[in-house]
Amino acid sequence: MFTHVMRVIRTAFLVAATFAAAIHLHAAEPDRSAFDAFGGTDGLARVADRGIDRVLADPRIKDSFAQANIPHLKMELASQFCALLNGPCAYTGKSMKEAHAGMNVREAQFNALAEDFQLAMDDLKIPFTTQNALISKLAPMAHAINENGAGE
Ligand code: HEM
Repeated sequence: MFTHVMRVIRTAFLVAATFAAAIHLHAAEPDRSAFDAFGGTDGLARVADRGIDRVLADPRIKDSFAQANIPHLKMELASQFCALLNGPCAYTGKSMKEAHAGMNVREAQFNALAEDFQLAMDDLKIPFTTQNALISKLAPMAHAINENGAGE
């Protein structure tokens, strides 16, 4: 009887410990589902590449990039996207405020760039819900990028 009770207690303890470990693991691991859906680091590099190519062909905003180092910009963007989606990358570029200081970026230009990136993701056949996971991370950056804050 005593052995049986001990066994039940031990089983209960093991079950509880397993649950606790599972919960802990879950809390410690960031959600990488969108990163994976994009095709990881390579997939996000394709988005940065195609997106900037579309920006450079967009008469609304291409002039802003006349002096830009395009390969560097694509590389920084790809690592920023990767970091935003919890991929194994660290963004080491300038802050958004610093990178766009004095460019006088307004809402219309910000929206044009966002549209170009959405078209680029359509080109790459990225599903709408996956696209949204990235766009929803970029949208709040408008405040730091736009000269007078979002909406002006
Ligand atoms: C969601 C919107 C945007 C994001 C996430 C973004 C992100 C970035 C990043 C990561 C960099 C590189 C910073 C570095 O080199 O350390 C950069 C640079 C730059 N961005 Fe943006 N940007 C956005 C919107 C815009 C808009 C709307 C414009 C202008 C119309 C713009 C123009 C530029 C230019 C000209 C550079 C400098 C490139 C160079 O000199 O090499 N960006 N941006």
